[in-house]
Amino acid sequence: NLLASAGILATGTMAARYGFAQMSSMPGMQHGGAVPPKTVIQPIEGQPLPMLKEVGTGANGELVAELRASPASAEIVRGMKTPILAYNGMSPGPCFVAREGDLVRITLVNAIPGQESTIHWHGMPVPAEQDGNPMNPVTSGERRTYEFRLPEGSAGSYWYHPHPHKFTAEQVYRGLAGAFIVKPRGEDPVPAAFGDTPLFFTDMRLASDATMPASTPVDLMNGRQGDFVLVNGAYKPELSLEAGTRRRFRLYNALNAGYLRISFGGIKFALIGSDGGLLEAPVADMTEVLLAPAERAEVLVPFDGSQRSVTVQSLTYDRGWMGPGAPSAAAVDLMTISVTGSAAASIPPLPSKLRAIADLGASTITKRFVFGETIKMGGPGGMSMTFLINGKVFEPGRIDETMKVGQPEIWEIVNPTDMDHPFHIHGTQFQVIDTEKSGTRVAAPFKAWKDTVNVASKETVRIKIVQDMPGDRMYHCHILEHEHLGMMGTLRAGA
Ligand code: C2O
Ligand code: CU
Ligand code: CU
Repeated sequence: NLLASAGILATGTMAARYGFAQMSSMPGMQHGGAVPPKTVIQPIEGQPLPMLKEVGTGANGELVAELRASPASAEIVRGMKTPILAYNGMSPGPCFVAREGDLVRITLVNAIPGQESTIHWHGMPVPAEQDGNPMNPVTSGERRTYEFRLPEGSAGSYWYHPHPHKFTAEQVYRGLAGAFIVKPRGEDPVPAAFGDTPLFFTDMRLASDATMPASTPVDLMNGRQGDFVLVNGAYKPELSLEAGTRRRFRLYNALNAGYLRISFGGIKFALIGSDGGLLEAPVADMTEVLLAPAERAEVLVPFDGSQRSVTVQSLTYDRGWMGPGAPSAAAVDLMTISVTGSAAASIPPLPSKLRAIADLGASTITKRFVFGETIKMGGPGGMSMTFLINGKVFEPGRIDETMKVGQPEIWEIVNPTDMDHPFHIHGTQFQVIDTEKSGTRVAAPFKAWKDTVNVASKETVRIKIVQDMPGDRMYHCHILEHEHLGMMGTLRAGA
């Protein structure tokens, strides 16, 4: 029995609180081997890669837009309607493109029946009260305008998604998320000739009638994993390119819980950016990049024409699994890039420098965040589980940590559990110092701005962090089902 061997603590039942006290008969759960039947429904594949609809800044330096969150329907399977949630009828929502210094004014219209919503600007340095936190809900039928100015140095690949109490995971897997790109005020160190294409990855599970089934206890425990990954809303799309180019891609893991270990058919590419924008210099000769849920990367991929058809894949990654339905061990095809033109084209050089990344300064304050879980099987209630940080389940209004604005701190994030958990904090970008596993400490190989970092099972990650603005900020596991089950806390940044 996987659960027993995982050494999970049994605690009092929390099942009733999360509304699945009655789910006592889970196929395979008691017998440890059987896997629930997978759907056989086939999404439409092979269409051209959809380009995200861009919404940019006006001539006055202001980005003004409305985002209407509402039910919509999508044709994922030919001739069938999948009910989804969409922003302005689209999933992913529009891709906002602004510049450092711009003023952003975006109005959320919540047309989701019966549910609160918000827009959270994942990774962006926005004031706390504009950040769409669960304590600032927009009720169904209401609207609210978010307003903030993008500071100098904030260029990067951000995204937005709802963050209401109890409905974040559901609203995201039903389709509410979009990209937000901030470009530098001055010249971009990456040549414009390399293009700039966001690849926004989401995943989806469909029942035989093409609707999305509700999450099961196994989904909540492991995070909801889809049956197929979509790129910019399309299944296994195709992109056609001319040989002799480097292409800039912004890779977004917007899956609720799935890990992506992305490779470009073995082509050696350069990593040039992380969650919070460009690195100091390209890291060349990469063959894969691991993105935990909510992480982003910017890459430059050369296409010299020697490979005519490049399959972008997610390679196998074991992030730990409990109960039935573990993801398959095979690599997953994400999209195909076909390369036309010369079969031995020369490739323009990589930029040698990108930008400087500041040191965060000396720190004497250390905080510790320990992930935990309690899972109880069997009994009349079926099963119950909570996911914890420092032994606590999220409680709205409780301040779990405080810190001083402008004062750097070292945070140790400790994961003694049998599963990976991506740690995320709102309102700022941090730097990873090192990781430690089985007594081996590895320093971060280069400086990078991050807002989400994977903490592998049995690993400790140390980060250095500063909050530049006062207010209450959420920190949580970005497996959204774990956030739902309480793996979240509130930090108060003050003077
Ligand atoms: Cu991507 Cu608290 O969020
Ligand atoms: Cu966030
Ligand atoms: Cu988690």
